[in-house]
Amino acid sequence: MSSFIVPRKIYHGLGSLENLKEVEGNKAVIVIGGGSIKSSGFLDKTINLLKETGITSTVFEGVEPDPSVETVMKGAEFLKHEKPDLIIGLGGCSAIDAAKAMWVFYEYPEVTFEEIVRPFTIKPLRNKAHFVAIPSTSGTGTEATGVSVITDRSKGTKYPLVSYEICPDIAIVDGNLCQSMPPNITANTGMDALSHDVEAFVADLASPYTDALSIDSVRIVFDYLPRAFKDGNNLEARQAMHDASCLGGMAFSNAILGIIHSMAHQIGGMFSVPHGCANAILMPNVIRFNSRSTDKYRLLAQALGKETAEDFAKEIENLRQSVGIKSNFKEYGVDPEVWKEKLDAITQNAMEDPCTGTNPRQPTLEEIKRIFESCFSGGVVDF
Ligand SMILES: NC(=O)c1ccc[n+]([C@@H]2O[C@H](COP(=O)([O-])OP(=O)(O)OC[C@H]3O[C@@H](n4cnc5c(N)ncnc54)[C@H](O)[C@@H]3O)[C@@H](O)[C@H]2O)c1
Ligand SMILES: [Fe+2]
Repeated sequence: MSSFIVPRKIYHGLGSLENLKEVEGNKAVIVIGGGSIKSSGFLDKTINLLKETGITSTVFEGVEPDPSVETVMKGAEFLKHEKPDLIIGLGGCSAIDAAKAMWVFYEYPEVTFEEIVRPFTIKPLRNKAHFVAIPSTSGTGTEATGVSVITDRSKGTKYPLVSYEICPDIAIVDGNLCQSMPPNITANTGMDALSHDVEAFVADLASPYTDALSIDSVRIVFDYLPRAFKDGNNLEARQAMHDASCLGGMAFSNAILGIIHSMAHQIGGMFSVPHGCANAILMPNVIRFNSRSTDKYRLLAQALGKETAEDFAKEIENLRQSVGIKSNFKEYGVDPEVWKEKLDAITQNAMEDPCTGTNPRQPTLEEIKRIFESCFSGGVVDF
């Protein structure tokens, strides 16, 4: 027996921000990151749309990329003071994820961070506020996931908070907000979306519900990511990538992920390689590794007019190159000496990462290490 949990309502399409006028509430707190959402005019637009429906709003700003526990606690204090019945995460995934965590501490001021990092332990929310997510990057799909990633900088650790309680009530997927994304962020976040599709599709918890989302999202990414990368003002491509990211979010929030993410989490933490870029480098070799245990990649290859898992891995390598992402970690600039020194630690941590449990092939420590080595030097996995 399985469940399938997604936001209650998803407004999508160019201009769908206007649907804010249909949201109910009295007082909103809008949580944002840096300046791009202000300079693009979308913060003002959000405030004005809320005002038109009689909702007043205040803004919590300054959420940093990879939001910290401190920022979340500061935001929770702000919420306690403002007492909103609507929380709006507006901007990149970092702003939305921080807002999700602030929401938990607003509803349950007595809980500790250590308590809520245990998966599925967050108590029922929505006693004080509902949550609206409005993303401005097209990658993580956080507007449709029960996930929030918060960083404890003192421990150098990223905590994924996992609970369907923090899946937003309403998602607004308006590609207009992505127009200002620079090409490198477009490329990295787009490859992150693809990795969610690919991992959810073969994960142990995949279902016909998640498969349908994953496979269509793969088609969209291959079709539109190169166009969004080449011309950020191509709004058709921006909307398509925004939709793909949300479809991937719904898929992986329910099917969970695999070792592309287990391994990328370590690369991101240890070598500061952007998450989507690390995924893009790892993806083809992990597909080769997993294809000895599942033949489902064939279906993804067929969606692109190809045949085999190897064809699909090669298609990803071509896409990666077309959006300017390096093909291995050495080429990316990771120092070979530091790599050698950290390899055993990142291998161990990847093995223990929660995403390893749903990978279709359970790897040994030695196998994870060998995949890491191939992805560092540009080798091709054949085991
Ligand atoms: N919640 C989830 O389901 C989930 C899944 C995977 C990863 N994550 C986490 O998401 C975070 C990364 O999120 P992200 O990739 O959305 O990036 P981000 O939110 O960290 O933003 C990256 C940068 O892009 C800027 N930016 C955002 N939108 C922009 C726009 N439209 N135009 C110009 N600049 C813009 C931001 O200000 C920031 O400087 C990480 O902390 C990662 O661990 C969360
Ligand atoms: Fe991801």
